Amino acid sequence: METPSHDPNGLSAAIRQSPPLDVSLPYDASRVKGKTIVVTGGASGFGAGFVREWANNGANVIMGDINVEKGDALARQIRKETGKDNVHFVHCDVTDWQSQVNLFKEAVRLSPHGGIDTVVANAGIAPEPDELLHPKDLSAAEPKAPNVKTIDVNFVGVAYSVHLAYYWLPRNPGAKACSIDSDQRQPRDRHILLIGSLASLAPLSLSPQYGATKHAVLGLFRSLRATTHVHGIRINMVCPYFIDTPILKLPVRIFLAGGGMGKVEDVVEAATRFVSDSRILGRALVVGPKASLKQDDQGEWKVVDYGTPGSEVKALWEPYADDWHEQDAFNRNIAKALNAVQAARGWGGWALDVVRAVGYLFWGSK
Ligand SMILES: NC(=O)c1ccc[n+]([C@@H]2O[C@H](COP(=O)([O-])OP(=O)(O)OC[C@H]3O[C@@H](n4cnc5c(N)ncnc54)[C@H](O)[C@@H]3O)[C@@H](O)[C@H]2O)c1
Repeated sequence: METPSHDPNGLSAAIRQSPPLDVSLPYDASRVKGKTIVVTGGASGFGAGFVREWANNGANVIMGDINVEKGDALARQIRKETGKDNVHFVHCDVTDWQSQVNLFKEAVRLSPHGGIDTVVANAGIAPEPDELLHPKDLSAAEPKAPNVKTIDVNFVGVAYSVHLAYYWLPRNPGAKACSIDSDQRQPRDRHILLIGSLASLAPLSLSPQYGATKHAVLGLFRSLRATTHVHGIRINMVCPYFIDTPILKLPVRIFLAGGGMGKVEDVVEAATRFVSDSRILGRALVVGPKASLKQDDQGEWKVVDYGTPGSEVKALWEPYADDWHEQDAFNRNIAKALNAVQAARGWGGWALDVVRAVGYLFWGSK
């Protein structure tokens, strides 16, 4: 994908956003050491991946989740592996304000330096089966209220997390206001990481509430990053494509059969790049399936053998508004890459995915 230059007179300079990311450059995960990080929805999927990666690199991680059994087991397991007491589980329902207040208070109490460096608003649910907003029974005397649970978890929950982050992050002892003028990475930080989706950027016509909530998270990100230089709290965002976690139910897995699905490790990589480098302000990364790709003379992306001269192996992309000029549904380069992966995998790949999708019902992700 073409990376626009950092225009010194453009909007990104006005809102003091840091320059475009070069994801081919390495990042240093060990820089999360000593940071205190709050992760909502940390018991499963991406959240569990973040908790494990950051705890293994010496961060103090406090995860909040409604799933007590999974969250507690994960914390115990990581503590056993690392032999350290730097992972904690706190029961939290993100839709309940007081429950989130309790999570943040606990995080501060458990933090060795008495503050919070990063808040990751990750908890989310899949589209509810009845989330279509059209009333089913047009002959009813009075319409029934729609089920808006997806909005409660995926947006109200995020809004609560962000509000609490704006309360606690400035109180982090030793943390300075972030600034693009700082060329040093700061150990004490003030950082919010939002988890959007490709559904933040493209419509999900069968899941309007889910799509709306992820667009809302993008709106929050774009609005808040514009005032980063005022409050000194940096904000970044990860927008994953479909990634193999328990959130993907059987119909979605069947629908996606034969195509490429992203991996949790790539989402963890994108998030760790943001968390470990306090110089990144106001940037977003899309995460898709990893593939070796090369652009031909017409600009079409083709899947090629690993190591082909001029090819790039990538799962991470920076999204830009002008990516959407030519089509409505997907970032054009990602759509091309996904099509190419699908063509390369053929019917054999499709059949394998259908078997895996059905097997997932019985055996989970392994
Ligand atoms: N997996 C994907 O394909 C994908 C793609 C794009 C975005 N996302 C987003 O990534 C985030 C993480 O999803 P995941 O794929 O890891 O799913 P997951 O189901 O594995 O994990 C979500 C976690 O959130 C928790 N949770 C749900 N409701 C909660 C509540 N009210 N309070 C606290 N915790 C709650 C669940 O218990 C679970 O542990 C979500 O916001 C999701 O919308 C996922």
